[in-house]
Amino acid sequence: MKNYKIAVIPGDGIGREVVPVALDVLEAIAKKHNFSFSFTQFPWSCDYYLDHGEMMPSDGLEQLKSFDAIFLGAVGDPNLVEDHISLWGLLLKIRREFQQSINIRPARYFEGLTSPLADPKNFDLVVIRENSEGEYSEVGGRIHKGDDEIAIQNAIFTRKGVEAAMRYAFKIAGERRGHVTSATKSNGIFHTMPFWDEVFDVVKEEYPNMKTSKTHIDALAAFFISRPEDFDVVVASNLFGDILTDIGGAIMGSIGIAPAANINLTGEYPSMFEPVHGSAPDIVGKNIANPIGQIWTAKMMLDHFGEFEAGEEVLTAIEHVTKSGIKTLDIGGNATTDEVANAICDFIKKDVTPS
Ligand code: NAI
Ligand code: MG
Repeated sequence: MKNYKIAVIPGDGIGREVVPVALDVLEAIAKKHNFSFSFTQFPWSCDYYLDHGEMMPSDGLEQLKSFDAIFLGAVGDPNLVEDHISLWGLLLKIRREFQQSINIRPARYFEGLTSPLADPKNFDLVVIRENSEGEYSEVGGRIHKGDDEIAIQNAIFTRKGVEAAMRYAFKIAGERRGHVTSATKSNGIFHTMPFWDEVFDVVKEEYPNMKTSKTHIDALAAFFISRPEDFDVVVASNLFGDILTDIGGAIMGSIGIAPAANINLTGEYPSMFEPVHGSAPDIVGKNIANPIGQIWTAKMMLDHFGEFEAGEEVLTAIEHVTKSGIKTLDIGGNATTDEVANAICDFIKKDVTPS
């Protein structure tokens, strides 16, 4: 029987509430589909930092290296540790050192969710975000403190990095509706975005059966609100993808639903699966955190392992439970975290086909 070795990092805040119940869902689906998981828990978090002076031990990455995947909740507890220390010390360290150069973030409408859009028209899109370079670089600096101060932030776009993100987008589009939209801004950003466009024009030639389009990021942000149903796969730089995917979460109805995956393309290091939301200190300990983001993230991990049928079943269960009104507060219900997760597990175990 196939066994997947998973490094589990619940992290901080609601991460510790939504990760355990998502593991229950993974256990339930594995049992049904004849594979299994071995979960190894790592307590790395802000509490760990207070005890040890670091977010993870110095050989932490070494410990994670041999796992098939990392399943992470959320990192950050601003009351205990400053965010730049906690995030750079754990989450961003893993993303960077393990060369997780692609970030996948789907957004789609579910029946039963209250989208802030008047007519969400069953939108169903995926943003492929370049995750390791672009505008989020450490290259630059500041000089002349005070009135004459200058800050310079360099954006780094490599042909290899850009091509990889675009090829990944075409690959995903091939499994979906076959349309890739490139998020650009070559009318305003002088060097990097014309380069981005050029690379897109070259890469798209490799996929003659796909539909393609280019849209400036400002217009694209507006279209995500006015007609999100027009998009299938959107490929974007690090910053543009970051901003677009928050809109994706917002139009779904809650950030508590949005899932994400950080993919290592070479297979040299494990990929990491984590929801878009953070540790939500304002609702921690109340058993009202929405577990769907974490559970949908688990579905993405199943897809990554090629367990597509199991993954699809998890999504069907999420949809069924949402539609039947078992929902947490953030999406207009009054169910607890446990009640939502249990309903999803029950649906999977019962093997009911939705009507
Ligand atoms: P957040 O995502 O934790 O919370 C934003 C708002 O959304 C809050 O009102 C929260 O209650 C709500 N929310 C988030 N997830 C929810 C869920 N599953 N169910 C119901 N409501 C939910 O973002 P915030 O407040 O900016 O950051 C809190 C901490 O989390 C900070 O330390 C931040 O650095 C960290 N963070 C970590 C991330 C990660 O680990 N990937 C991502 C974003 C923030
Ligand atoms: Mg963001």
